[in-house]
Amino acid sequence: MKHFIVVITGASGSAYGMRLVEQLLVSGAEVTLIFTRTGAEVSAYELGFRLPESGARDAVMRFLEVRPDLPLRVIPNDDLFDAVASGSSPVDGMIVCPASMGFVGSVASGLASDLAERAADVMLKERRPLVLVPRETPLNLIHLRNLTALAEAGAIILPAMPAFYTRPESLDDMVNFVVGKALDVLGVEHELFPRWRE
Ligand SMILES: Cc1cc2nc3c(=O)[nH]c(=O)nc-3n(C[C@H](O)[C@H](O)[C@H](O)COP(=O)(O)O)c2cc1C
Repeated sequence: MKHFIVVITGASGSAYGMRLVEQLLVSGAEVTLIFTRTGAEVSAYELGFRLPESGARDAVMRFLEVRPDLPLRVIPNDDLFDAVASGSSPVDGMIVCPASMGFVGSVASGLASDLAERAADVMLKERRPLVLVPRETPLNLIHLRNLTALAEAGAIILPAMPAFYTRPESLDDMVNFVVGKALDVLGVEHELFPRWRE
């Protein structure tokens, strides 16, 4: 079974991260989900989803309305003793979705000061897929340099930029496009958007 890490940071667009978790679980993958502190706050603000201190896993499963036995772990971001903090842990890929510029800067600087940053650092050092879905506009030179450093280190930069050639009819369609692109780079099958000319 594939195992992916999903991190939801405090950038706008928690809906992308939650849809991604849903799709990975439905695809049959195991998911380790980490919210940064601001990620949890923005999720509450944008989605009305409140991450409880205990029972976080059940709360996410209820929010996503997926089968409760699917393999999801929700790990606190201060738990540096979790398995995904180590390169010895088998992980097939990590997606930071949405990724704040703060998170991008921390990983570009190699801080590894919490579980999400450490897991990203591990993915880069182990040469495993790290997909960052940044959401910020406009970008300043520091953002651009940090994103470039991460791309040079092997990360895939997949900006939250919905397309219009799919003729989206709803917010859901636009969320699905970005999430579908992230699934594409991870090699996870989905039917979130129609393929061009198919
Ligand atoms: C409602 C809200 C929306 C935000 N949107 C963004 C955003 O789109 N992009 C971004 O880089 N930061 C955004 N921020 C700022 C980040 O949340 C802030 O820099 C935070 O320190 C990021 O921390 P984290 O990466 O640990 O989650 C937003 C903050 C709030 C409260």
